[in-house]
Amino acid sequence: MAECATKFAHMLYRGDPSAYIALPLPHGTSTARQLFYANDYWRSLELHKHHSALGVATTLTPAAPVTLVRPQAAARAARFFAEKFPGRSLYAVKANPSPDLIRTLFASGITHFDVASIAEVRLVAETLANADGGQAKLCFMHPVKAEEAIAEAYHVHGVRTFSLDTIDELAKIMRACDNATDLELCVRLRVSSEHSELSLASKFGAELGETRELLMATRQAADALGICFHVGSQAMSPQAYSDAIERVRAAIVDAAVTVDIIDVGGGFPSIYPGMEPVALENYFEAIHRGFESLPVSYSSELWCEPGRALSAEYSSIIVRVERRRGKELYINDGAYGALFDAAHVGWRFPVALLREEDSEEELTGFSFYGPTCDDMDHMVGPFMLPEDVAVGDYIEIGMLGAYGAAMRTGFNGFTSESTIEVEDEPMASLYAEQLPVRRRATVIKLG
Ligand SMILES: Cc1ncc(COP(=O)(O)O)c(C=O)c1O
Repeated sequence: MAECATKFAHMLYRGDPSAYIALPLPHGTSTARQLFYANDYWRSLELHKHHSALGVATTLTPAAPVTLVRPQAAARAARFFAEKFPGRSLYAVKANPSPDLIRTLFASGITHFDVASIAEVRLVAETLANADGGQAKLCFMHPVKAEEAIAEAYHVHGVRTFSLDTIDELAKIMRACDNATDLELCVRLRVSSEHSELSLASKFGAELGETRELLMATRQAADALGICFHVGSQAMSPQAYSDAIERVRAAIVDAAVTVDIIDVGGGFPSIYPGMEPVALENYFEAIHRGFESLPVSYSSELWCEPGRALSAEYSSIIVRVERRRGKELYINDGAYGALFDAAHVGWRFPVALLREEDSEEELTGFSFYGPTCDDMDHMVGPFMLPEDVAVGDYIEIGMLGAYGAAMRTGFNGFTSESTIEVEDEPMASLYAEQLPVRRRATVIKLG
């Protein structure tokens, strides 16, 4: 039983697709019970606390990568959205499904969650079942869902909000919910990803020519009608939202329906080397202006669904250099671990050599190889580190809370077994007034 629960917890954390398939439950054990154990597993990992990344490297000299978590940074991001976004903020759980992160966000004002699979529905429902301050609200915002998943979400977990982008999906939702009359249904429009680093423009969303019929049919079926979109992840300009809202306006005018919810989706940026967006307040202002000018009912609500912006600062990793070949460092985490985006979309995450004393060395650009046997396990960078970085050194790779920890696999037997909470600041922040300058001193060498 414990072994099964641990396996499930591993799958949830590592994003193994088989977590989305119902597991055989030993001796009639409920899935909720398994998630209870999954939470225990996470808790045991996150109990360990240290003052700083440097402290972890110097005192533990870990042989495997370590995930660092900073709940205070996630809480600050949550408070920022809860206080400053001119509407309601939902956390997009896919960015990082850590139960401890979910609890931290909830305690800091994020009470609504964008879930995209039945496993995420169960996870959030179980994680927040006994949370103080009332019930969390779950919104199932994947436009293509299994009918069984919709039925379980509606009948077992009380989910009332669903997204869709076709008439077929509308029919599926109505069937699965026994033609319920208490549904909030959000029609997803296809919008451009031209201002974003990662496109979400091809897969989902109704085209302008299709929206009239879809909006009218959904209006008939829904208690509340919403329109949602996603401008693509890491949107580097507020213009992305202004343009998408114009698209919403055209769809509303064309269908002449009363709309109750405008959901501007995710896409809010975090900060990475070479990707330094303007302050999020500018995004909020552009969205507010656009929303205020839409022909929607006076009582209509404005929502957003940030994943990255709420979770990026939550996590980083500590890796060890196992080999150096010129300007190439062989480290013990990579493309199949927390560095998927660094490998596959050339994302440059911030790095710091964890040393006790300042180095006189100039910074120079390095690329990384991960630990597996694949050539593809390669992160081009450049990652800027002191010229004298060597085997046995520890490096912190920052800003991996979104789509880093969540996408880790155990491929080739390489993974990160330990998660440690630290109190120091993340390597970059969109929310901190001022970050202390990171030292990059004495190399932590084994032996
Ligand atoms: C429907 C939906 N909402 C929100 C998000 C979160 O996006 P981001 O992390 O860019 O904020 C995603 C990401 O894929 C998504 O598909």
